[in-house]
Amino acid sequence: MATNKQHVGLSADGNMPESGAQKSWMDQLNRKRVPGPRTPYHHKLDARTGCSTRAVHSGTYHDPVSGAVGTPVFQSTTFLFQDKTYDAFFEGVTRDVPIYTRYGNPSQWSVQEKVAALEGAESAVVFSSGMAAIATTVYALTNRGGHIVTSYDVYGGTYNLVREDLHQSDREVSFVDPTDLSAIEAAIQQNTQMFLFEGLSNPLLKGLPVKSICELARKHNILVVIDNTFLSPVASRPLEFGADIVIHSATKYLNGHSDMTAGVASGSRKFLDRIWAQMLRLGGQLDPNSCFLLERGLKTLALRMRAHSENATAIASALDSHPKITRVYHPSLPGYEQTELLDICKGNYGGVVSFEIEGGDPAALAFMEKLELAQVATSLGGVESLVSMPFNTSHSSLTERQRQQVGIRPGLIRFSAGVEDQNDLLNDILNALEQI
Ligand SMILES: Cc1ncc(COP(=O)(O)O)c(C=O)c1O
Repeated sequence: MATNKQHVGLSADGNMPESGAQKSWMDQLNRKRVPGPRTPYHHKLDARTGCSTRAVHSGTYHDPVSGAVGTPVFQSTTFLFQDKTYDAFFEGVTRDVPIYTRYGNPSQWSVQEKVAALEGAESAVVFSSGMAAIATTVYALTNRGGHIVTSYDVYGGTYNLVREDLHQSDREVSFVDPTDLSAIEAAIQQNTQMFLFEGLSNPLLKGLPVKSICELARKHNILVVIDNTFLSPVASRPLEFGADIVIHSATKYLNGHSDMTAGVASGSRKFLDRIWAQMLRLGGQLDPNSCFLLERGLKTLALRMRAHSENATAIASALDSHPKITRVYHPSLPGYEQTELLDICKGNYGGVVSFEIEGGDPAALAFMEKLELAQVATSLGGVESLVSMPFNTSHSSLTERQRQQVGIRPGLIRFSAGVEDQNDLLNDILNALEQI
C-alpha cells in the first residue's frame, strides 16, 4: 500500500498524473465499478422511494461535525492529502476521493447523487453548463473517424457544436427527422457510434420514440445519448428504456429559478468515468456555490414540474380554439402523433407550449410586447413564465430553409409556462392577443 508521494510518482510540486494510472483504471474491464462517487455521509435512499422523496433527500450530505440538515458548501479548490489520497493515485481511482475540485468535490457529489437517483443512474457528472455536458459527452464517447446521427431539431448550441466543430476532429454527422425510425436506420453507417437526440424537441415538442430508438441502437451497437432537458426525470427517464446517457441543461427545470447555469450527464459508472476523464481535460466542472443552488432547486423539482405541466396544458387547450392562433404544438392536444411519448409521460409534458400567431413574425412580436406577466427572454424552465421566438433566438443559426425543414414557421412563439396561478397566465395571454 502506498503511503507517500514517492510511491505514486507525483511530481515534486505534487502535480497529479493526468493519464497513465487513470487511463488503465478506466479501461480495466475486470474492475469492480461502484456507483457514485459518494462518501458515507451522502444520503443514499432505497431505490423504491418516490420521485419527490428522492428529489428532497438523495445525495444530501449529513455533516458528521455540525449535524447540518442541508449539504454544506464545500468552498475549497483542494483537499488535504491523506493515505487514501495516495492510494487513490496509486490505484488510479482519483474520481472517488476528494483531491482537487476539478476532479471532484463533496458539493458536486451531492448534486450528482440526487440527479443519478432521479434518473435511475449509477453515476453522474455535473458541469458548468448544459453545453459543457453535451460537448464533453460527445467527445468522450466518440472518436476520430466516428459518425454521429442527430437532428436539426436540437437546441441551437448543440446544432452549432455538431455542425461547426465535430468535423474539425474528423467526426462525421448526419441529420435526420428524430421521429422517423426508418430515416434513422437509413442514416446508420459502419462507423456510426452515437445517436444524439432530444426527448421532446425544441421548439415543436416532437416526442422521440425513445424505446424504439434504443432497440435500433442496440442492434447496431450504437450509443444513445438523450438530452432530456424539456421533460425532466419527473416525466421521463430514458435510461429505463435503454439509453446510455441522459443529459440536461440543468440551467432549466433541474435548477428551476433562472439564477445559474449548469449541466449534468448521467448513466452507467463505466461511461461516466470516461465522461469525467474528458471533463478533466476540457474543464467545465461546476463550482461548489452553484452546486448548492442546484441542489436546493432540485429539492422542489417534482412539485414544480406538476405546476409547469398543468399550466402549459391549460394554455395549449385555451389557444387551440383561439381565432388568432393558427396552430398549437403540445402533446396534450388531439392528433399528437408521437404516441410513444404520450405513453411514457402520462400527462406530464413539462412546461413548454409553442404556437403560431396569425399575421406571422410581426404579429408575434407585437403579441409578446403586450404581455405583462410573461417576460420576453430566452431560456425556459424557471418559476417565471418566459416567452421568445425561435427564429431570432434558439434557432437563429439555422438557415431559413433549415428552419422550414424542421417546421419552424413565421409567427412561431415558444412559451415556457412558469408556476404562476393558471388564471393569471391565461388572462395575460388572452389580453395580449386581444390587443393585436
Ligand atoms: C434542450 C437544451 N439542451 C441544452 C441547452 C444548453 O444548455 P446551457 O444553456 O445550460 O448550456 C439548452 C439551452 O437552452 C437547451 O434548451
